[in-house]
Amino acid sequence: MRISIRQLQIIDAIVQTHSYSSAAERLHMTQPAVSMQMKNLESNIGLTLFERKGKHIVLTSAGKEVHRCSHNITVQYDDLLEAIHEIKELHHGRIKVSSATTANHLITQMIANFSKVHTGISVALDITNRQQLLTQLADMEPDIVLMGEPPTTMDVISEKLIPNPLVIIAHLEHPLASQDNIPFTDMEKYDFIIREEGSGTRATIERFFYERQIEFNSNLTMGSNEAIKHAVIAGLGLGIVSLHTLKLELEAEKLIILDVEHFPLQRYWHIVRRKGKHLLPAVAQFQKFMVQEAKRYAEGYQQFLKK
Ligand code: PGA
Repeated sequence: MRISIRQLQIIDAIVQTHSYSSAAERLHMTQPAVSMQMKNLESNIGLTLFERKGKHIVLTSAGKEVHRCSHNITVQYDDLLEAIHEIKELHHGRIKVSSATTANHLITQMIANFSKVHTGISVALDITNRQQLLTQLADMEPDIVLMGEPPTTMDVISEKLIPNPLVIIAHLEHPLASQDNIPFTDMEKYDFIIREEGSGTRATIERFFYERQIEFNSNLTMGSNEAIKHAVIAGLGLGIVSLHTLKLELEAEKLIILDVEHFPLQRYWHIVRRKGKHLLPAVAQFQKFMVQEAKRYAEGYQQFLKK
């Protein structure tokens, strides 16, 4: 006894449409081909599956029994096709990732480790500031974004990752370098080097000082965390940056984190995706990986926060 998947799909289609011609249309077949397949199947299994009731083709009682079992097979067959499609995409996908400048180190670590395991997936990365990330999200460009606060003005799906502590940094010989518990109000007396307009870090710092009515003095604006660190090391002022931008400098003892009241300022990294943008299996896989990696990454920074 031979029964093909195609024949089972035809049974499904006739049950749903109550007609051979509509079933044929649905399956992109001709009506005689559908009738022929059913005739062959019925004679092969020795059962009559359909009968005519008025204008409609309906299942016989034996047909109902057969359909109850055969329908499960067609559903599972569809699932199988879907799974094969997803496995193929998962192994050969291409992911467009955008990240906040400040998360540059974090995201590159994630991608490097992901690529070691998922060799068939290519990851295109764009590093830019918060303002640009918002524009990209509005245009539905990236598959996934790593950023500070998720936007509130568009439909997104966001997942909170790990803390993103902002710290105040100084060069090693700075008069505050050896002090503990520095009052936040003292910050009015110092000059800061600040990120460019559009940076999420900058917006957070400005809001924090403003809410506490502490004057924020800054004559130097720099377009990257790297530039800020160089300027701080050169003694041009204090900086406020994410701890996650500081690994190399802290390990090499090129600058120091000041012990200032209210700091580290606790922010969080978020994974953000636009609602309605198709979630490719490779992207879902990458997101899962980001969550695991981020935890490990955060642990690696704990040592720098101990006072
Ligand atoms: P940025 O990143 O300061 O590099 O813009 C932080 C954020 O997304 O808020």
